[in-house]
Parts: sequence; structure tokens; C-alpha cells
Amino acid sequence: MEGASREVLVELKDAKIELIVGDALKILPSLPSNTYHLVVLDPPYLVTEAPNVKDEYHEALKTNIDWEFLLKQIYRVMTQDSVLVFFGHLVTFMELGSIIKSAGFRYVIDIVWVKPHPVNFLMSKSKPLSQHETITVWRKGKMRYNWQEALERGTPYSKALVSSIYKAEPRAVVNNGYRYMTDVIFAPNKPTMKKEERTKHPTQKPLSLVEQLVKAFSFKGDNVLDPFAGSGTTLVACARTSRNALGIEINEEYAEIIRSRVKNTQLSLDSVLETSF
Ligand SMILES: C[S@@+](CC[C@H](N)C(=O)[O-])C[C@H]1O[C@@H](n2cnc3c(N)ncnc32)[C@H](O)[C@@H]1O
Repeated sequence: MEGASREVLVELKDAKIELIVGDALKILPSLPSNTYHLVVLDPPYLVTEAPNVKDEYHEALKTNIDWEFLLKQIYRVMTQDSVLVFFGHLVTFMELGSIIKSAGFRYVIDIVWVKPHPVNFLMSKSKPLSQHETITVWRKGKMRYNWQEALERGTPYSKALVSSIYKAEPRAVVNNGYRYMTDVIFAPNKPTMKKEERTKHPTQKPLSLVEQLVKAFSFKGDNVLDPFAGSGTTLVACARTSRNALGIEINEEYAEIIRSRVKNTQLSLDSVLETSF
């Protein structure tokens, strides 16, 4: 971890949020094994919108990341029963699937993030506009799912359930307004985020999406790692939901965004999460 130091950005009663500015590939080997209950992985893909790209399958993974090394290191620092949440396109997982599996991970589910507005207008006459992104969920050991915290708000209802098979009396079903989480999450993308949420980071993920993932795949007091922290969305989500978090970010300009976002983390950000679709 040459030259890189670990900064404590905020220490709340029940969550310590830390940042290391540096190269994740160099820093990961210095982190202790068996430590993180959840890893949020949103790597820097070189996905291009340029119409002249011939082989997008290949282009999507053209980064200088050593994926095998990265995934093995991530697996090592994760606790026995833990979760990896991995942002990417379908091609990413087609290409990386065997590397992810040979690192030791087992596939759980893919989650679709649906955006209010499509993107990729440069390709609009070559293929359909894109309005979703994929996030795959992998486990190390047994699945760790916090279904209670993952419950989503809905409209309460009550109805009489009639069984046509057993000719039983109708049974009253009362729903208190909560729904089990599904594999589809509706959340704003960069251009549709409220201005108090939007930063200068080009691929910032929405807080409502990342917070839902953090709540679903970790528990209060857990340790969460984000090796490509970007604008710090995972760290903000962890500060707000009482998880400890460590972010690694190579770019000092983005690190400055992270510092200011985390330090300003207030419960008042709730308004951002209410963003209607
Ligand atoms: C897709 S973005 C992450 C966005 C983040 N999830 C958010 O919501 O803001 C990937 C980030 O990884 C950073 N990065 C690229 N290579 C890196 C490396 N080797 N180590 C650490 N960070 C790196 C980039 O600077 C970029 O900010």
C-alpha cells in the first residue's frame, strides 16, 4: 500500500466510513482476509457509444484490469458468508463468468436497474436505445440476504382471498404497505437525478439504487468494501444505513467529491430517495 493512507471520513455512532486514494489492484493485497460482508463492484469499463465500434463484445472489457487477480483478491477479503454485487452489461458477465466462478463465487441473481430515460442516442438508428443496466449478485459461502431491511414501500391493501379449490370461507389478507424486494429497481440515472444528488462524476450511480442493494445484502454493523468508489455513492449509503465502509478511488479529483459527499451525509438526503419515477 505504498504511499496510500487510510482516511477516516466520518465516524458515526455505528458506522465508520473510510477512504484510500490509490490503485485498488495494489491496495487490495494489503487488506486483511475474511473482513468484508459485502463488496460493491462498479469497475471502470471502457464502454463506448461511438457508432464505429465493430466488436462491442470485446470493447466492453478493454480495460487494463487484471480481472482474475482482482476477483481472487476480492474473494479473499470477503467473510465466509458474504455477497458480491457486480455492476456490468450482459457481455461483461458472458466474458467474465468463468473467471468469477473460478475465483470461488456462486451466482445468485441478476438485478435490473430501470432508468426513467434511455441513453445511447448516438446508436439510436443502429439498435434500440438502452434504458436499463444489469447488476449481478454472487455469493461466497451461504447467501446473506437481509430481506426485512430490503422491504420496499407500497400502498397498503386488504382483500378477501377466495380459494376455488377448497371451498373454504374467504380469508382476509391485509398488507401493511410493504413489498418483498424484486429483481427490478427503478432509479434515476445521472441526467434525471435531483440536482442536490448529482456530482461531477460521469458514472455516478443513484443513491436510491445503491442504498437498496446495501440494505438487501448486508446488515447493520457489517463491513462493506467498494474498490472503485467513484463519487462515493456506496460510502454515503453505508453512512446512512449504519454499515462500516471502505472505499478505494484512484482519482484525487473524485476522492474530493467523496470526502465532501460523505461529510455532508445527512438524513435530510431522504428527499433524494423519494425521487419519483
Ligand atoms: C464506474 S466508476 C464508479 C462509480 C461509483 N459507483 C459511483 O456511484 O460514483 C469507477 C471508478 O473507478 C475508478 N478507478 C479506475 N481504476 C481504478 C483503480 N485501479 N483503482 C481504484 N479506482 C479506480 C475511476 O476513477 C472511477 O471513479
